[in-house]
Amino acid sequence: MPAKQNIVITSPMYPPTLDALDAKFITHRLWQASDRASFLAALANSVTAIATMGETGASAELMDALPKAKIIASNSVGVDAIDLAAAKARGIAVTNTPGVLTDCVADLGMALTLAVARRVAEGDRYVRSGQWPKSAMGFGTKLGGKTMGIVGMGRIGQALAQRAAAFGMTIVYHSRHKKPELSFRYYDDLAAMATASDVLALVIPGGAATRHLVDANILAALGKTGFLVNIARGSVVDEAALVKALHDGVIAGAGLDVFADEPRVPEALFAMDNVVLQPHQASATHETRTAMGQLMIDNLQAHFAGTPLLTPVG
Ligand code: 8YV
Repeated sequence: MPAKQNIVITSPMYPPTLDALDAKFITHRLWQASDRASFLAALANSVTAIATMGETGASAELMDALPKAKIIASNSVGVDAIDLAAAKARGIAVTNTPGVLTDCVADLGMALTLAVARRVAEGDRYVRSGQWPKSAMGFGTKLGGKTMGIVGMGRIGQALAQRAAAFGMTIVYHSRHKKPELSFRYYDDLAAMATASDVLALVIPGGAATRHLVDANILAALGKTGFLVNIARGSVVDEAALVKALHDGVIAGAGLDVFADEPRVPEALFAMDNVVLQPHQASATHETRTAMGQLMIDNLQAHFAGTPLLTPVG
């Protein structure tokens, strides 16, 4: 039986995943450290892996503080918060959890689309606050026959397309490259696609390459009957421009699971009935978080066993 490896866990995870990590490794919880620098210094010679989350990632500074850590296993598909160049330069492997979260993330994208177009959260508030007996609530927007423009047509984008098509929507998409195997109309120009879309759904990776891809111009192109749905990363949208567009009626509404500075959300959004907000929950089901945790642990174990990583990044 090989000796248990020491690993640092950067931030809280699904509790059963933490239990499984505790059972297999000697775990050190970075988020519980009162003095981060001395906590890391004490582990510099023993820690051989870092387990992290999509939002927390891993900085070059963390890698330097744990020079014996040769793998960063992320409990997420997104790795935009990991300094991938720094990891590569230091010979550190990076793994993520693609595939196992596709359905749940796409489900939430569809849920937000329905919620904002059919005013579901607003209707709930309407009933709870006793408004219904006083006056009838206003009308929503039918999704069938409308167009969803999907930005980013990877696994999750395609799963969302399937769902939206089942609701009678026409699908179009924008991504770096046209995918010849897909029959949906491709736009290489995002503004042109936004103009043609009733719902603009963001499913594209975060990071420098996509920062503020959706800005005031794209929102103006989406227009006053258009809805924005973001299940990607807050960084993809110029959030100040979005708040202004919602406030000024430049777009009709938004369904947002992700924000620029989580868990902080612009307070201006709280008072807007045409906005549906979620606390970054797209992959947060028992089933999916169990599968993500297992895949992260399988990658760690493969690394220590010297066998091929299951889902390496890059
Ligand atoms: C999670 C995510 O919120 O996978 C991702 O990229 O954003 C989400 O699934 C989270 O990062 C879980 O660690």
